[in-house]
Amino acid sequence: MKALVIGGAGYIGSHAVYELIRAGHEVAVLDNLSTGKREMVHRDARFYEGDILNKTDIARAIEGEAALGRPVDVVMHFAAKLIVPESVEQPLEYYHNNVEGVRVMLETMVEHGIGNLVFSSTAAVYGEPEHDECLEDDDLMPINPYGDTKLASEKMIKWVCAAHDMNYCIFRYFNVAGADDSLEIGLEKDQVTWLVPLIMQTVVGERDMFYIFGTDYETPDGTCVRDYVHVSDLARAHVLGAEYILENDTSILCNLGSGSGYSVAEVVTAAKKLADFPVTIAERRAGDPAKLIANSDRAKEILGWMPKRTLDDILRSDLEFRRRRQARKA
Ligand code: UFG
Repeated sequence: MKALVIGGAGYIGSHAVYELIRAGHEVAVLDNLSTGKREMVHRDARFYEGDILNKTDIARAIEGEAALGRPVDVVMHFAAKLIVPESVEQPLEYYHNNVEGVRVMLETMVEHGIGNLVFSSTAAVYGEPEHDECLEDDDLMPINPYGDTKLASEKMIKWVCAAHDMNYCIFRYFNVAGADDSLEIGLEKDQVTWLVPLIMQTVVGERDMFYIFGTDYETPDGTCVRDYVHVSDLARAHVLGAEYILENDTSILCNLGSGSGYSVAEVVTAAKKLADFPVTIAERRAGDPAKLIANSDRAKEILGWMPKRTLDDILRSDLEFRRRRQARKA
């Protein structure tokens, strides 16, 4: 299989590239390096610098690959903006990059006869879930622009794939964290809003304080509950998903989570077992649902996928990656 990974120099995309290559697949990466880094791209992947909003850039990668003798079998999409609070402040940026980007990508795929797409969606499409566990067929009511851009993209993908006889594999991610076992790649961004990297930035001294946002939620200990999945487990699902839609000439949509919820306080306690760091209780952060847990039975049934790594593995690998990055900079 040959994959074109759009956004393959970013956090999740680079991990998908590593897993594709480990599984013996051929990979090309297209990335505009706006948030991704050239050195995150696996040395065995071919790299094209270009933008998902620019049809010529996508076509150059697709045609470049075909000219090498084997056309692209599947496109994987990771080139989205994904910071929830930023999406609330800059909705137009988010609709432009995330929705228009998908439209341009689909148009280019149709024109080049590429019939398979793996797309990164998010638990944010569920909004405030009705049940304890989110199921793929639940109502979709995003409560922020980021989630809405992903829902709009999901819908567009379904219509376009139906009209042009294409297959899609849509994954709704829950809370992704951790770093590849090689520690060559991990979450490089310094401006993040996510729990695990913020804890570990505090551990390694890049931040003075870690704040727990709210202790008065309707959860057992009052802090928000989330479903954490290791980025390499998530990346492996993309390999399985792509192989599945190609082999079976069909489309699928699955949640990707662990099925276990951990509260912010529980994550803090687990992290403190690795290293101590200062913690303060703060006000609730706007727009945080109390509880988001995946039901990932469908991914298990269809793809045989289950996360192999635990919360401890996630915390440990993020910390090790960060320490190694600091040592390299020193
Ligand atoms: N949190 C803190 N302190 C921090 C950072 C986060 O207490 O410094 C809390 C948040 O308030 C929340 C929990 O940790 O209760 C998780 O927050 P994250 O920002 O790590 O993750 P979110 O659940 O808000 O969102 C993430 C991604 C979204 C994705 C969503 C799906 O940012 O893109 O997971 O579950 F849609």
